[in-house]
Amino acid sequence: MSSENPTTNQNLTQRPRRLRRTTALRNMVRETTLTVDDLIYPMFVMEGEDQKMEISSMPGCYRYTLDLLLKEIQQVHELGINAIALFPVIPEAKKDDVGTESYNPDGLVQKTVKAIKTAIPDIVVITDVALDPFSTHGHDGIVDENGVILNDPTVEVLVKMAVSQAEAGADMVAPSDMMDGRIGAIRRALDAAGYIHVGILAYSAKYASSYYGPFRDALDSAPKFGDKKTYQMDAANAKEALKEIELDIAEGADIVMVKPALAYLDIICQVKLATNLPVAAYNVSGEYSMIKAAAQQGWIDEKKVILETLTSMKRAGADLILTYFAKEVALMLL
Ligand code: PBG
Repeated sequence: MSSENPTTNQNLTQRPRRLRRTTALRNMVRETTLTVDDLIYPMFVMEGEDQKMEISSMPGCYRYTLDLLLKEIQQVHELGINAIALFPVIPEAKKDDVGTESYNPDGLVQKTVKAIKTAIPDIVVITDVALDPFSTHGHDGIVDENGVILNDPTVEVLVKMAVSQAEAGADMVAPSDMMDGRIGAIRRALDAAGYIHVGILAYSAKYASSYYGPFRDALDSAPKFGDKKTYQMDAANAKEALKEIELDIAEGADIVMVKPALAYLDIICQVKLATNLPVAAYNVSGEYSMIKAAAQQGWIDEKKVILETLTSMKRAGADLILTYFAKEVALMLL
């Protein structure tokens, strides 16, 4: 029993602490629950056999050759993860100015998707649609002689890429390029090719963020000149995110995404209020690496910080979270 003397207390009607008193009470009134169903696991595939290479700026994340990737996917599927987002590491020799390799029917992405859907048909495979892993210059679009990223010619390539990924068996395509009009163009092309069932996870509000650094190390895809500010969004803008979301929905997006997540929780929250579509958030590479680095220093409790961080994204309104922590979290939630 409490030893607090009632006579010295104020006469409070509401005492919020009553509901925080025990674990059971806290469990009863918890508003947000993170589950393995919320997680999408981004994974990196490279050419070759029987190799896995740790990404130095993303400890615990690897580039896998297809054979080892399949084993890893089998494992994460058994842990209950429903979906992976696939990113390819393309050798320099296969890159060109216009990303031709991106729609090669026998390209790395296409081969990988086919193999995954044959070996583990139930896992949802989401493929990235953008030129940066395939282009010599590292930009997400076609670049003219003045360094301008050309919108409509890029969309033509994105359409071919998306259709070839659907042909390979992708369940959803995820345009991450931020060209105008690409969701509509991809939707029309998928439908015309008979892929009405293939969904679009749109990177709708994708910011020109410095949090992508480690991912660009992973794919060796950092832009060779300039930055991505003429197509990715300005970190200072929120209304513009709502404009992008609205356009992508009108053009046929099935799921809209905000990226990055942690520094953009307000955007996730506003987007959630603005649409009835599922909202995804991308807990990006830099957000992952910051936690890993601090944990390696012994400065934070890694597991607790991971769970708190991902829970904050759900609380903000994310229905789905793309996160490199997916496997670790699935293990924690077992
Ligand atoms: C590129 C793409 C990027 C990421 C996903 N797709 C990087 C970029 O736009 O430069 C970043 C993911 C991450 O940082 O984890 N289309």
